[in-house]
Amino acid sequence: MAESFGVQVLHGPNLNTLGVREPEIYGTTTLDEIDGMLRALGKEHGIDVQCFQSNHEGALIDRVQEARTWADAIVINPGGFTHTSVALRDALIASDLPVVEVHLSNVHAREAFRRHSYVSDIALGVICGFGATSYRLAFEAVRERLGA
Ligand code: DQA
Repeated sequence: MAESFGVQVLHGPNLNTLGVREPEIYGTTTLDEIDGMLRALGKEHGIDVQCFQSNHEGALIDRVQEARTWADAIVINPGGFTHTSVALRDALIASDLPVVEVHLSNVHAREAFRRHSYVSDIALGVICGFGATSYRLAFEAVRERLGA
């Protein structure tokens, strides 16, 4: 199918270690597997899915700024930056794109500091607690929003 929409998928710090990182919390699916699943779903529905992971706040912000030029939506798991980054929030707002926030774990059932997110109130929606399935559900939400 020809791709008529674009979605930037962003993964924040430490998510490159999925599969080995605290599997009891984050599951055993690797980031490559998640990205592969999202790209395959994109292909099925005519959506160009570009995935990017970084441990660096500025690198993620650069991608958010670039997304404005080609993407129709952003799916982001900001990792630890969820709870700390005003700069990432500012970039997401400035992108003017619909944003879906994703977490593998249920951040509300963990330490208190994880309950605050700098992204949630500017996101279209938040999906958390379903492991790798959280990403699939986020993709589904974006697809429906785009009418793809
Ligand atoms: C996370 C939750 C964050 O609190 C944590 O810092 C992460 C992963 C998740 O996907 O569950 O790195 O975003």
